[in-house]
Amino acid sequence: MLSKEDNERLTRVGPGTPMGEMLRELWTPAVRSASLVADGAPKPFRLLGEDLVAFRATDGRVGVLQKACPHRCSSLALARNEGNGLRCIFHGWKIDISGKVVDVPTEPRETREAFAARVPVKHYPTQEAGGIVWVYMGKRETPPKFYDFEFHFPPADSLVRCAVVNGNWLQGLEGQLDSAHLNFLHSSSVPNRPNSTGNMVGYDSAPSFEFIEKPYGYREAALRNLPDGSVYARIREVVLPYYSFIPGNHGEPRLVVVVVPIDDEWSAHWYYYMHPFGPVPEWYRQQAVDRTGPDDDDFAADRGNEANAWHQSRDAMKNGHFSGLLKNFVYEDFIIEESMGPIMDRSQEFLGTSDAVIVRTRRMFLKALEDHERGIVPFGAGGNIDYRAIRSLAIRFPKETDWRAIDMKNPPAFGQKLSDAAQ
Ligand code: FES
Ligand SMILES: [Fe+2]
Repeated sequence: MLSKEDNERLTRVGPGTPMGEMLRELWTPAVRSASLVADGAPKPFRLLGEDLVAFRATDGRVGVLQKACPHRCSSLALARNEGNGLRCIFHGWKIDISGKVVDVPTEPRETREAFAARVPVKHYPTQEAGGIVWVYMGKRETPPKFYDFEFHFPPADSLVRCAVVNGNWLQGLEGQLDSAHLNFLHSSSVPNRPNSTGNMVGYDSAPSFEFIEKPYGYREAALRNLPDGSVYARIREVVLPYYSFIPGNHGEPRLVVVVVPIDDEWSAHWYYYMHPFGPVPEWYRQQAVDRTGPDDDDFAADRGNEANAWHQSRDAMKNGHFSGLLKNFVYEDFIIEESMGPIMDRSQEFLGTSDAVIVRTRRMFLKALEDHERGIVPFGAGGNIDYRAIRSLAIRFPKETDWRAIDMKNPPAFGQKLSDAAQ
């Protein structure tokens, strides 16, 4: 349970809020690279409560500007994208990717340049990596070092998709971190969970969880004893504030889930699939998109809403489906988040033992907010973290081995099946 004040502190992300200011210190995923074409349609989007527009200029670089034209606020999403800038269709003012007004054809020719120089336009620096355009919305002259995540350097084709959910970003993140729901919410939709009849029969169904705190968040192992006396560990990395690196099964691509605040009541859920050795295989790609919508920028748009109980099927529940939510299993997560209301009131909850990870994470956020008030860039992002070494791992090893000692970059080849040590 949180006080109402702390719930506000953790959930509100607009400009001037403590969390909003802290999150603005960090590079933030904004839009899919592939959604922007040179001289093509600008893309309106909302991030941390601000209405913005992204566009790919003639030379291929990406600009992010305020959505409202600085003249009289018409939408720059309607602007012409030409000659390395956006030209507003209302009166023809033109702005380049650096936010500089380069033409104001409605002003007298002699004073045009001086006038243009006085027009302020909000704009943010961008970077492209891993098929995503990232922005820095902070106030510092120099943004922190850009994340060199492993998924920014896929050896070949990866897959990145986004879903837009009507729930505050923190309930999205907390849903990702909550492992206790796997055996319930997803028990029918993910067949190889330990308590089902899938290929993981024989597992110790109640894993024990262990953590190592890291400057960027934490590393977590779900440890299960196998019948042959060895241990199966699923090791996940959590890079706060947004990134959860989820282990795949043997030989499968890796998944990173990223939950980013659109505003206080909406969040963008990025699903990033990459394979360390090559393109994401076709069967996996197919599995990832199976029973989802066609739009890579909002792939779960067909999930329904509270008025139709998100298409929950009571018949299916009677016939053995646990949740009655029959689409792709990630829909179950999104629907649960939406069912909590747009901003979950954490002063009304009643936490139990299985919520330890949620409590720990909130504490880390509250501490980071305090530190930030003293000028510290959150989660070690101002330092020299080797983000490229951060990865998830599913691995089997002898009981005597301490999972904390495993080199995540070069894991030992103990495991046979159930291990991705060979990855
Ligand atoms: S509103 Fe954009 S140029 Fe006038
Ligand atoms: Fe889930």
